[in-house]
Amino acid sequence: MISRRLFVASSMAAAFVGKPAFAAESVKVGLILPMTGPFASTGRQVQAGINAFMALKGNTAGGKTVEVVLRDDGGVADQTRRIAQELITGDGVNLLMGFGLTPLALSVAPLISQAKIPAIITSATTSIITTKSPFYARTSMAGPQSAVPVAAWAMENGIKKTVTLVTDYGPGIDIEKGFVDAYKDKGGEIIESVRVPLQNPDFAPFLQRVLDAKPDALFVFVPAGQGAIFMKQFAERGLKEAGIKLIATGDVTDDDLLQGMGPAALGVITGHFYSANHDSPENKAYVAEVNKANNNMRPNFMSVGGYDAMQLAYLALEKTGGDTDGTKLIEAMKGQSWTSPRGPMSIDANTRDPIQDIYIREVKDVGGEMYNVEFAKYEKIRDPFAK
Ligand code: PHB
Repeated sequence: MISRRLFVASSMAAAFVGKPAFAAESVKVGLILPMTGPFASTGRQVQAGINAFMALKGNTAGGKTVEVVLRDDGGVADQTRRIAQELITGDGVNLLMGFGLTPLALSVAPLISQAKIPAIITSATTSIITTKSPFYARTSMAGPQSAVPVAAWAMENGIKKTVTLVTDYGPGIDIEKGFVDAYKDKGGEIIESVRVPLQNPDFAPFLQRVLDAKPDALFVFVPAGQGAIFMKQFAERGLKEAGIKLIATGDVTDDDLLQGMGPAALGVITGHFYSANHDSPENKAYVAEVNKANNNMRPNFMSVGGYDAMQLAYLALEKTGGDTDGTKLIEAMKGQSWTSPRGPMSIDANTRDPIQDIYIREVKDVGGEMYNVEFAKYEKIRDPFAK
């Protein structure tokens, strides 16, 4: 600790007489993720995505070496904010990345605005986050981006009466509204909308109500990491046998957990931006790298949020010629476009949110493994709630 303080003090002194040469050559990225606690799968996946990007594309951008400093916030917002503060003032990071859940992302808004340090959101999806500071950019999605195409698909496929079930916090509420508005707009009927708590959810009582209501479909959002428990209870309650179609955002059939969900998940229809089964050379290289480096782990959409966050940082650094000034970096992120393992994407210059294709997928057995198999595409989808 003492030696670190001394180091910080001496590098601060050096700042007055000109930056030390090593500092000028490297860019520090502070990566804050839930590596422990109930959302540790998100942390593990995002880290794997970032590592895969750097393994495939190298560790330099704009002539600078990129160095990642990883810290675990355990999924607790007070920790996220404290760690972000330390990374900015102690470690001198040029950029922040990560944020596994909405409250964690929101907790750093005043800090990044004041310090003028960009923060690239790899995971959290509540629409409003990116409006809370001009220094946010996002490579996951705004939740309703995936919900609106699912509503369109349902109406095009004769699903006329639906019950919705979402987790009761930011992304769930946005996704519910995105789905319900789009579905009703096209003439669909919402029988009931139920919300379940984020912590320790028990879906069984709600699923019984859905069974009694006899809708054509149940539309669901639960955050990544909770899909398996939801699917287990869905199977146990016999909703599939009762002919109630499960439609959802891709958070439910998360690639990380899908293999363990069993036959109940077969036939589930979801809308999302990434499937490990996406057929492109970029995705094949990506999946192979994540498999190789992580004991055959299958990448999910969280990992791709991490991969593309680093991609966006590299593109911005190339554009500024390695200048790490926060205002210049965030400016350089606006309007960038590239081919991700998910497909083509760009960053909206006004909202700093991704514009991307949303795929409709069906869970199928592919050579003995369960995958979200893409079969339709809604192109260049923006956040429907963006002003
Ligand atoms: C969020 O908290 O914003 C969040 C977490 C997990 C998801 C989606 C959204 O799968």
